[in-house]
Amino acid sequence: MVHSSPRPKLPLPPPLVGSEVGSFTEFTVTQRIPAIARKVVVENNFSPEINTNLESLAIELETGYLPILKNDTGKDFLDWNTYLESYKNQRWIDVPWFFAETYFYRLILEITHYFRPGIWQSIDPFQLQKSQGLEASLDSTILLCTQVNQWLDEPQSDALTNLLYFALWGNRVDLSLWSAFESDRSSFDIQKQLAHVLVNNASQVSELLTNSPVNRVDFVVDNSGFELVCDLCLVDFLLSSHLVNQVHLHLKPHPTFVSDAMIKDVHDTTSFLTATSHQPVTSFAHRLKEHIASGRLVLSEDYFWTSPLAFWQIPDTLKNELAKANLLIVKGDANYRRLLGDRHWHLTDSIADIVCYLPTPMVALRTLKSEVTVGLQSEVVEKVAKSDPDWLTNGQWGVIQFVAEDI
Ligand code: F6P
Ligand code: MG
Repeated sequence: MVHSSPRPKLPLPPPLVGSEVGSFTEFTVTQRIPAIARKVVVENNFSPEINTNLESLAIELETGYLPILKNDTGKDFLDWNTYLESYKNQRWIDVPWFFAETYFYRLILEITHYFRPGIWQSIDPFQLQKSQGLEASLDSTILLCTQVNQWLDEPQSDALTNLLYFALWGNRVDLSLWSAFESDRSSFDIQKQLAHVLVNNASQVSELLTNSPVNRVDFVVDNSGFELVCDLCLVDFLLSSHLVNQVHLHLKPHPTFVSDAMIKDVHDTTSFLTATSHQPVTSFAHRLKEHIASGRLVLSEDYFWTSPLAFWQIPDTLKNELAKANLLIVKGDANYRRLLGDRHWHLTDSIADIVCYLPTPMVALRTLKSEVTVGLQSEVVEKVAKSDPDWLTNGQWGVIQFVAEDI
């Protein structure tokens, strides 16, 4: 059974809301999210009625009110009605941002008949972006698979740390990750990347994974595409080098946040890699299939990961599952926001005093894309704010934040 404290030790500050004038939250709720709804129209061939409803949703977001969720037979329909209770008849910009965003993506599925029997059932409205993302990163994928194969053949001390950096920066496929690769394949452009890591606990994570045998590592996964390839390379390295016996991936039960990965996206990715004519990639894909077939790599999904709940509101069954892991790797910005309940913490608040509810040691690999961050040194905040006014939200800065188990 799990004995960690049920919630943060620190008093809860207010949540981010879209009505905060001039904030990135306001920009996202009133501008960026409506644009995502309109992109769903452009990237699919839904019926005129569906497209009209998507356009209405886009219009409502800026100044309108939360609509009810029609019963589209989704398994989470009753849960969403419970979640909606506290925000009925409120405006999109007045409810907590995390609620607004998670509900928006659930409404997209109701509007596009994702759960309803019929021709649109189980059509992922973001499939085009997921497939394009994977194809566009083939060059990077070939480089990384070649590197992983080499690290597995000739173990190198910083292989694991490098894979943590790839997992961190994965959803940014700019080739700056590789500039040193062409010449010496020993390390990628660490210096440039290191300067952009605002908290770097990579060595603690590497120690935990290499000092003594580790039975199980769980990932709360983020995006499909090259980020998922990076995550799967880290998974393969952990399993093929026998540093870890088993890895569990916690994936989304339905499409959300545009690129967030589902179980089908893992299988699509493995199939895509298998179909390339590049030996380093196909041998990597073959190992992945072996890991899944042998039960050492377990793919699971849960509706908690698409709910608007704070991480500490996790159902006990899922919390007890996470407690079996020796390390929990939490990927990306939205999962980081969930860890903190998407609230206005101070940048220098101790992350350990907030995520003390976790039943296992955790490392967050997160590029900053929202105005929620903790655990920074004040001098780091001062320095980065001077060098880049958009540092909190432009995805150019990251953290590798390790929190040991709460004792
Ligand atoms: O910053 C915009 C945004 O949609 C945030 O609302 C969200 O947290 C983030 O992008 C999703 O990024 P990630 O895929 O890293 O969770
Ligand atoms: Mg995501």
